[in-house]
Amino acid sequence: RGATEHIKRDWESLGKNKVPHGMIMFSRLFELEPALLGLFHYNANCGTTKDCLASPEFLDHVTKVMLVVDAAVSNLDDLLSLEDFLLNLGSKHQAVGVDTQSFGAVGESLLYMLQCALGPSYTAPLRQAWLNMYTVVVAAMSRGWSK
Ligand code: HEM
Repeated sequence: RGATEHIKRDWESLGKNKVPHGMIMFSRLFELEPALLGLFHYNANCGTTKDCLASPEFLDHVTKVMLVVDAAVSNLDDLLSLEDFLLNLGSKHQAVGVDTQSFGAVGESLLYMLQCALGPSYTAPLRQAWLNMYTVVVAAMSRGWSK
């Protein structure tokens, strides 16, 4: 219960600035797994990582990711209601060449962003609460991978 309220409160401020926070998350992700940048085909000819991150299509994806986080936070008490959506989202990611193993680095990047954004309010229980939510979301997405 307490954890849920923490997440909702964090997101009240973070969710107002989705793109800048999403950019911190994805910049971190490409540091951890640079090869993932190549899966965004529209960025094939865009020079430096910095240029890729600034492309409109990429910014759209960042917004899309943050909207999924937004949906998860809003449905935190009933994440099962997102099951079909997340399953389908998983199969779309399989189709673009994402491997479920990359979700570990995505989770680390999410936590990194939270740490940057929340500063001293980023505590161990808070980290755990976010990680729990993230784990449910990626587990549902991963069920969308056909073997
Ligand atoms: C679509 C890559 C993680 C949400 C896409 C597309 C690519 C992609 C290439 C299709 C092109 C586009 O829409 O820009 C990746 C990679 C990821 C990743 C490489 C990290 C390993 C995530 C995560 C979420 C997410 C964690 C949300 C939790 C979405 C959404 C779409 C999308 C909502 C649009 C799907 C649709 O068209 O219906 N992703 N993605 N992505 N991604 Fe990701």
